Amino acid sequence: MNERLIVIGSLNMDLSVTVPRLPRPGETVSGADVVRGPGGKGGNQAVAAARLGARVRMVGLLGDDAHGADLRAALVAEGIDDRAVNVLPGTATGLALIVVQHDGENTVTLSPGANRHLDEATLRTLTDGIVADRGDTVLLQLEVPLPTVLTAAREARAAGALTVLNAAPLPEPGPLMAELLREVDVLVVNETEAAGLPGASGIAPPADRDHPGADPAGAEPARQDEDWTARADRLRLLGPATVVVTLGAVGAVAAGSGGHHTEPGFPVDAVDTVGAGDACCAQFAIALGLGRPLAEAVRRACAAGALAATRHGAQDALPSRAAVDALLAGAAPRTEVHRAR
Ligand code: RIB
Repeated sequence: MNERLIVIGSLNMDLSVTVPRLPRPGETVSGADVVRGPGGKGGNQAVAAARLGARVRMVGLLGDDAHGADLRAALVAEGIDDRAVNVLPGTATGLALIVVQHDGENTVTLSPGANRHLDEATLRTLTDGIVADRGDTVLLQLEVPLPTVLTAAREARAAGALTVLNAAPLPEPGPLMAELLREVDVLVVNETEAAGLPGASGIAPPADRDHPGADPAGAEPARQDEDWTARADRLRLLGPATVVVTLGAVGAVAAGSGGHHTEPGFPVDAVDTVGAGDACCAQFAIALGLGRPLAEAVRRACAAGALAATRHGAQDALPSRAAVDALLAGAAPRTEVHRAR
């Protein structure tokens, strides 16, 4: 497999603390030692795709600090083309402060740093004016400015690339988001993001969104009795031909022009779900880019996400293609140590 996948997105250093339970507003909870590791939705999806066998190019911005140097080294160690990753003088690298509860549930607070400066002019400079070529897959998330993501999606699609959007984290509703959805071929969202998208009428937001202090990323567990397929169908009306709604441990549902697929998920002992969604997106983008059937793409994506949840950290937890194959073949998930290639 030598598919070219271009990830345009964020690069963050993650500082994580594991706690017995997540603190409520105003509360202090003591946890374990801080763990520092490479992250950011863009960087995570690039590293995931590389480990899953794709030829990956990363487009993004770093600050001129030690975090940035380490993040670049992490990309290079995975064989990722980093020529479109620039350093912004006088700027800090993106930083994520992560608190992880014993069962893997977590909260993330972001300081975007250099990521917030990835504007359209910078995107053109980084890519020499050509975002993608025919046959490429372009994978986007929303930790860099929305107008840049919209430009990237438009230009990638015009060039004949497959455009895949992981609409996370979801911005405030607005016309740009609606426009972006019309420009992407594939949309990957979790159930909370699905509820928050513009025009997704009839989609009831998870109840916990109304509770101050609730963790919107995962407070509402997916319910088996929800009609997620109907929700995915309604999201297709916003533009993307293919929609996947990920449901955490419950799996995912997908809707495409050829029909639907419900994937029940893989029972694993989750210790940290940070990065699980990124593994899922990367695997889904790779499989669709290779023209694999929707059911196979969703199944592989859920396997990659499940494996990522069994280890601590973001990039440190991302599985290899061999590990995904082994899980799909029925082998028990195993702990992997990732080394530079
Ligand atoms: O998706 C997980 C990522 O979200 C973390 O690595 C953190 O950097 C935040 O961007």
